[in-house]
Amino acid sequence: MKALIVANWKMNPQTFKEAKTLFDETKRMTGLVRGISVIVAPPTVFVRSLAEGLRKGRVEFAVQNAHFEPSGAHTGEISMPQAREAKATHVIIGHAERRMMGETNDDTRKKVSAAFAAGLTPILCVGETSRGTGAEHFTFVREQLHTALADVALSKISKMIIAYEPVWAIGGKTAMQPRDMHEMSIFIRKAVVEKFGETGHNMKILYGGSVDATNVGAMLRDGDVKGILAGRASANTATMTELLRAVNEA
Ligand code: PGA
Repeated sequence: MKALIVANWKMNPQTFKEAKTLFDETKRMTGLVRGISVIVAPPTVFVRSLAEGLRKGRVEFAVQNAHFEPSGAHTGEISMPQAREAKATHVIIGHAERRMMGETNDDTRKKVSAAFAAGLTPILCVGETSRGTGAEHFTFVREQLHTALADVALSKISKMIIAYEPVWAIGGKTAMQPRDMHEMSIFIRKAVVEKFGETGHNMKILYGGSVDATNVGAMLRDGDVKGILAGRASANTATMTELLRAVNEA
């Protein structure tokens, strides 16, 4: 099974030169590790130049966000068709940091449709902000999935990538335990299969939140996931190299 690694650089690094170094090293390591594919999500201004001359291979690009309208009076935004034209193949939708800036479940629904319409694969992020002792986090995630996937055609569901990222683990010190992720994967799959039937089994589930070289192996082995979404660890040449090396060993 091929593991999928999404590298969310967030608003890093500061210069194109650094971005190029990080990207070249990511690409080189990906070439050395068998059975992985990597989707790099750099700041959008870097995408086109990084993609220049890149042959179709195991490294592809995502944008970290895009608007649901194809064009118009939306100062500061970029559209999905623009992202596609700049050589992105994927788009991250509903990242916790975007939700904190006001992105709603209904926005994610519109963005998922817009992504498919533009020929981009959506990477939908879901995850509860906090966990109590009860099962509220399941209800929360079900609602996120239910709304975001409301308009997805049955023929498209296999293409979806769902990244479960509990907000309390993002930017934190420790990742979630693989057995807890396993439980969440089963829940997510069930919620999707309820709506889409068996075809729903084909979408990919990733884990994100404080993934690094020390915990990635256990998560890939025991978390019932097809891959991971890494933030901090992916945005630095040394830690990304270690991460990919650990994936190789897993
Ligand atoms: P982190 O971020 O790996 O730095 O915790 C993950 C994310 O925000 O997607």
